[in-house]
Amino acid sequence: DLTTDIWDLNDMQIAAKNVLAPKYYASYRTGALNEFTYQANLNIYSKVRLNGFSFRDVSNMNVATTILGYNFSQPFFIAPAADAGHANKSAEASLAEAAGKAGILYAPSISSTLSIEKIAAAGQPGQVMFHQEYIWANKTRLVDELHRIKASGFKAIFLTVDNTGINGIRTRSMRFNDDTDTDTGHAANFDLQSLAAFRNLTTLPIVPKGIKTWQDARTCMELGFPAIYVSNHGGRVLDGAPTSVEVLMDIRQNAPEVFDNMEVYADGGVRRGTDAIILLALGARAVGLGRPAMFANIWGEPGVSRMISLFAQEFYTSLQLMGVSDVHALNTSYVNTNQIVPL
Ligand code: FNR
Repeated sequence: DLTTDIWDLNDMQIAAKNVLAPKYYASYRTGALNEFTYQANLNIYSKVRLNGFSFRDVSNMNVATTILGYNFSQPFFIAPAADAGHANKSAEASLAEAAGKAGILYAPSISSTLSIEKIAAAGQPGQVMFHQEYIWANKTRLVDELHRIKASGFKAIFLTVDNTGINGIRTRSMRFNDDTDTDTGHAANFDLQSLAAFRNLTTLPIVPKGIKTWQDARTCMELGFPAIYVSNHGGRVLDGAPTSVEVLMDIRQNAPEVFDNMEVYADGGVRRGTDAIILLALGARAVGLGRPAMFANIWGEPGVSRMISLFAQEFYTSLQLMGVSDVHALNTSYVNTNQIVPL
């Protein structure tokens, strides 16, 4: 039962494994190839030590933040993930509804079960959502979708740039001959000129998602993007890609100006409030949750809402235990990363 048996995000994954058809569970759970990056995403957080300060007043807490200037109750959000309908027939509507009730950001995938318009309609009045998009080779499709995204009220685009043209090889999922998340039709000739061309197709702010090197981070900054989204796609694309912890450290080492000039979001393997704290301390403004929301959705909106509240509780309590009363005070002085070998 959701309220008596489910106490953290890992419980939700176990429940989803028991409930879902094996091919659907595999399609959510899978990483690429050896799943080294998938595993590293989960394990990297155990290598970071958190500094907890006593002698601080944590009776008045602030965890609310802004993302691209929009107000949210928490600095974590529901990341874009395809085919929510495999967990529940309410599909992305439950994710939009739960995010809206909790006051957090949700950015649905362009490969969603429900239409752009249906997801928008499932939100609360005034709820701010972003939308993920790919650079499709089919320009007519692209222009049409961008128009519908804007017309439906979405406020920004997460433009996924890590699997443009070619997708990861997800063996675990392919065994079921049902790798439903393998989108076809991306433009493989995606270069800086295509990126510039894409920017002319919409007036919405664009946030490149899937940044994995400090060089690409700096390029995005130089091109004037308002934000970047550091991600290895949950280990589903390039196996061997570094974790977001490592990439954030690398950007800090080689292009620290990125953090002064743009917002940086990050995701990958975030399952505990403390994982989010680590990414925020390393410079992320907000942190995405991918699989946990998909798994929680086996119960529909109540499951996703419980996922959010359990995670928020871990996050809030751990901040208090660190002596941090305002989430914006988090910085590298709160983390010790000596166990991590720099890239
Ligand atoms: C994804 N992800 C993803 N990203 C994206 O930009 N467009 C998409 O359509 C999808 N689809 C998708 C499906 C499934 C089933 C998963 C698990 C993931 C990647 C997602 O946005 C995010 O980067 C990762 O899920 C983060 O890692 P965790 O939280 O799942 O470990």
